[in-house]
Amino acid sequence: MSRQLLVTSALPYASGPIHLGHLVEYLQTDIWVRFQKLRGNRCIYICADDTHGTAITIRAQQEGKTEVDLIAEMNEAHQRDFAGFGIQFDNYGSTNSPANLKFCEEIWAALRQADTVVERDVEQLFDLEKGIFLADRFVRGTCPFCQAKNQPGDNCSNCGETYSPADLIDPVSTLSGTRPEIRSAPHLFVQIEKLHDFLDKWTQSGTLPEESANYIKNYFLAEPLKDWDISRPAPYFGFEIPDSPGNYWYVWFDAPIGYMASTLEWCQKNGENFDDWWRNSKTEIHHFIGKDIQYFHTLFWPAMLKTAGFSLPEKVHIHGFLTVEGAKMSKSTGTFVRAGKYLEHLDPSYLRYYYATKLSARVEDLDLNLEEFVNRVNGDLVGKVVNLASRTAKFVAETGLSETYPEDGGLFEAGIAQQAAITEAYEAGNFSRAMRLIMELADKANPFIEQNAPWELRKDASKAKDLQDVCSVGLNLFRQLAVFLAPVLPDLAEKAGKLLNAPITSWEDARKPLVGTPVAKFEHMMKRVDMKSVEKMIEEGRESAPPSAAEAASREEAAAEAGAPASEVEAAGSWDDSDQPLKDEPLAEEISFDDFMKLDLRVARIVAANEVPDARKLLQLTLSLGGEERRNVFAGIKAAYKPAELVGRLVVMVANLAPRKMKFGLSEGMVIASGPGGEDVYLLTPDSGAKPGQRVH
Ligand code: MSP
Ligand code: ZN
Repeated sequence: MSRQLLVTSALPYASGPIHLGHLVEYLQTDIWVRFQKLRGNRCIYICADDTHGTAITIRAQQEGKTEVDLIAEMNEAHQRDFAGFGIQFDNYGSTNSPANLKFCEEIWAALRQADTVVERDVEQLFDLEKGIFLADRFVRGTCPFCQAKNQPGDNCSNCGETYSPADLIDPVSTLSGTRPEIRSAPHLFVQIEKLHDFLDKWTQSGTLPEESANYIKNYFLAEPLKDWDISRPAPYFGFEIPDSPGNYWYVWFDAPIGYMASTLEWCQKNGENFDDWWRNSKTEIHHFIGKDIQYFHTLFWPAMLKTAGFSLPEKVHIHGFLTVEGAKMSKSTGTFVRAGKYLEHLDPSYLRYYYATKLSARVEDLDLNLEEFVNRVNGDLVGKVVNLASRTAKFVAETGLSETYPEDGGLFEAGIAQQAAITEAYEAGNFSRAMRLIMELADKANPFIEQNAPWELRKDASKAKDLQDVCSVGLNLFRQLAVFLAPVLPDLAEKAGKLLNAPITSWEDARKPLVGTPVAKFEHMMKRVDMKSVEKMIEEGRESAPPSAAEAASREEAAAEAGAPASEVEAAGSWDDSDQPLKDEPLAEEISFDDFMKLDLRVARIVAANEVPDARKLLQLTLSLGGEERRNVFAGIKAAYKPAELVGRLVVMVANLAPRKMKFGLSEGMVIASGPGGEDVYLLTPDSGAKPGQRVH
């Protein structure tokens, strides 16, 4: 029986461009949706831009535009990027829409009605120059507990204490560098603790991946849930709360409601009934999100839906984060690749397939390794799949396929037999398994062509029938793979349909071989990836500037309140720390956060260490920043370390120090160490898990 599915991806912030990290989610969702549609399920894919909040205001100010103009531009840009990757939404809306306001009002009224809203005063820091309230992370100052300087607004990286930004000594806004003022204003809170029992049941009933269900249970549901601060005082770019003039809904209140607003738009365009989708137990609602925003989707959102009488999600699919070459995406190394930049250099099919080979149903981070990316695409898609068609199609362009499906040693049947397992893997979101199963079939199909060598058969006129049969098998096996891959590679499926004059429209198309149909002229289906194009993309994406405040702001908005646990610090007994070092070298003059950000500290691995003839203090070190990146550095640590004990260990280096010409050669950076010198030198070591090339913040 056909199912009715409403599928969403998280609504991307309108404050920044789409990048390869985002695409993990939108491609994952698109593949799942295409799979459902191909199987004949009724399925709509709904998304929108998330347009409200401080980050938008900051960016609009930077660009000298109004917020409304900025979000219109970004909406267009986002939709262009998504379309470029073949991501097919049924509706792409905006949270700044009348429909969204209407649903916000409805849900708000229900929360009031259920007596879950309370008002309390909150102290917040206000940036007078920028004219906005500052989220915790945009404030730095001196820790009120340990007096460490330049600490963030919510917790101290030195002593681990948590506090409110208003408690900071000498606070500074990182947006303007000015001293913010403390303002007290009434905020509205939702008491989600009132839904504790419901949330306990709902989160533990198979709606979430197991690791997320456990995390939510142990971390949040083990204690009373904290009231949720859902309002912000003016000025704030968002919807004003109707019964609380001068206050606005916090962006995370109206953002998920955008799923509904965008659905309503789709219903209006298609003559559908909204309640069939959001108030109907027959419809399965599936959210796809990243692990950073699970708090909102597994606690607040179901609490809001439940209170207002809407359907609850059937499943929240949660994925991990993308790293590139083993490290967080970074603008300075060029691995922060925007969707548009990728499309200038590479075919979107490559990334669709590569991500598919990496995605499972588990909440795991995934790495884009560029060499593996090239090898996978060339080895699997070009070498094993497209190959089946490119080596056979031209020999049957005149005759078409054989009238009956020839003997193939059980290969086509083997594909049919594998279909159930492939289906199950797709359904579970275990795309990597689906891809493995499909490539196993391709591995069986290729020897058939090798052994029967159509390019030899064609030389002998008496073998014309054999030639047609061998090619008919090859093309049918190719087509079967193209059906299985269609959710991932819609372009390839379309080309396969054209080649064999039979469009792929159903998952069932994999079960019946084509016979007697004409074969079109073979057109190129997929080019090999060239490592040079990949390198060029990375090179062009390299930027020296640190991320703009607006971009940082949009991530912050997710992190703030996302319940990221404050680091727990153990009181580790007694220390005997004298204050002599501070007396010997008093603290330096205060610097701004921007000054600090100029310093590019990186984790590096010592891959070689050598004595330098004639140098009394120096060792020569070769540092690896991951991949091929090497730096030659001379370090004054000869009295404290032997070369052999250094090789292999991780250190921290200043990676953007201008190279210095020394008597013994060029020194390209500096290794971080403490101590007065001589034997008293201590290299700083990152905790295990850190990777060469990672930035130290
Ligand atoms: N606006 C919120 C979501 C509101 S949903 C009602 C938001 N936007 S976002 O643009 O920051 O992220 C959108 C989605 O992309 C999130 O699910 C997020 O987890 C995902 N990703 C963003 N960067 C990512 C990676 N580097 N890797 C994988 N997914 C990432 O959060
Ligand atoms: Zn402190």
